[in-house]
Amino acid sequence: MIHVTIDGIPVEVEKGTTILQAAEKAGVKIPTLCYIKDLLPDGSCRMCMVEIENRGRKKMDTACSCHVSEGDVIETMSEKVVESRRTILNLLLSNHKTDCFSCAQNGRCKLQDYCVEYGVEKTTFAGEMTEFPVDDSNPFFTYDPNLCILCHRCVNTCNKVVGRGAIDTMERGFESSVGTPFGVPIRKSTCESCGNCVEACPTGALSSKRRKSFRPWQIDKKVLTTCPHCGTGCQFY
Ligand code: FES
Repeated sequence: MIHVTIDGIPVEVEKGTTILQAAEKAGVKIPTLCYIKDLLPDGSCRMCMVEIENRGRKKMDTACSCHVSEGDVIETMSEKVVESRRTILNLLLSNHKTDCFSCAQNGRCKLQDYCVEYGVEKTTFAGEMTEFPVDDSNPFFTYDPNLCILCHRCVNTCNKVVGRGAIDTMERGFESSVGTPFGVPIRKSTCESCGNCVEACPTGALSSKRRKSFRPWQIDKKVLTTCPHCGTGCQFY
């Protein structure tokens, strides 16, 4: 067993445990955007950065992918950690439409929640923004790449959870976006409209068409359904 301290709370975990898992055991919440439980970490968002001290050496690392070592003293809300999260949010906003009132995910967007939590109201970076066409071809959901933060949760869900492989990350750097093989509209791809990608999206990039007409408090209630894998259908009735 490995013994670590997280925000002053001692915790004992098995070898191979990530900091995020150890924090969960200690009851400490670490913010994540790209992490999906039970999948290998994507490590793309960097929101889960924490400060680790061991034998007098300090470093920053991502809690979702870094395994604990004996004697780690981990800080999840130190000044440095909070500042790095603010910078990450600032960078994300620098290439993200911020007209939240017209976004279907307004009020249930993880990016919006974290920006409020960390006091990031707008970006301080100036520069070009990407402008991609919106894919409205699917009858159940819309994909707006201009609201995408490239966390790959939708891609990992479609490829590794559902096993469909209908979407993937296209291009590199500034031109990077989520798309379909050969660039066909989603409706003409192998997508079967299961809606898992929509549920996985932490922003409004993938949003249910039905949700656009309603506010979260009008429809976000849990109901029993015979098809628990479905993220788009009967729950609205
Ligand atoms: Fe760890 Fe995204 S949650 S890098």
